Amino acid sequence: MSVSVLGILGSPHQFGGTGQLLRCALKGALLEGAKTDLTCLYDGEITPCKGCIQEEEPNCKFPCIFDDFGKEVLIKIHQADVIIFGTPIYWYAPSGVMKNLIDRMTCLENMVAYGEPSYMEGKVVGAITVGADAGLTMAGGYLLTVLNAMGAIVPPWAHAYSRNADKAIYDDRAVMDAINVGLLACGLAARLKGLSGTLTYQDNKNLLEKIRTKILAEKEVYEREHGETNL
Ligand SMILES: Cc1cc2nc3c(=O)[nH]c(=O)nc-3n(C[C@H](O)[C@H](O)[C@H](O)COP(=O)(O)O)c2cc1C
Repeated sequence: MSVSVLGILGSPHQFGGTGQLLRCALKGALLEGAKTDLTCLYDGEITPCKGCIQEEEPNCKFPCIFDDFGKEVLIKIHQADVIIFGTPIYWYAPSGVMKNLIDRMTCLENMVAYGEPSYMEGKVVGAITVGADAGLTMAGGYLLTVLNAMGAIVPPWAHAYSRNADKAIYDDRAVMDAINVGLLACGLAARLKGLSGTLTYQDNKNLLEKIRTKILAEKEVYEREHGETNL
């Protein structure tokens, strides 16, 4: 009965700053014995929400009326215990694809209109935001507030952020925070399942270096195969 974690990447760059810190969070989740998965929102189409919640015959229920990549992500969200949302800052806000996904998640929350609990109820969430300038805490706060309003639970130290853009992996504080986002979200999810789980912030330089080295190695392999360069 291990915890399942979904990392959602709202950046077009697999190993840009957001991808780097999101992967740190997933490594943190592994420390708690979780099963991890990562999905990139740029891998398919996410049709914008058309607001059918307001139609006479309400259609707004899981898994949404649109049969697209967005639906696949919604199903993954429904199946996960923990979801970590990683987004670059685009004009003081989450990226457009991430906002499209948030809007589409209405179908999970709107199950309350069909006599069921919100499908986000009891899930544990975390946020990673990466930018080059301003808006990092605003966008992270936005994500956690909205997800909590859908029924999700926000654990301690649930937000990691860096202004180092595509060099976020060299931002020690952000890397340690990101590891803790994954670790503590899974610790809380484990406790909700009646298992033991960590809820104390881990400040461990050796762990930080070990995870940074792993991410940089994964990045190198990815770039060798795909020819992408961020650093
Ligand atoms: C359309 C656009 C808008 C941006 N707006 C902001 C912003 O408001 N604040 C900020 O800190 N960085 C902003 N940036 C910079 C990105 O957040 C930064 O390049 C970040 O590293 C992108 O994440 P990634 O490396 O994961 O792709 C913007 C970038 C783009 C393309």
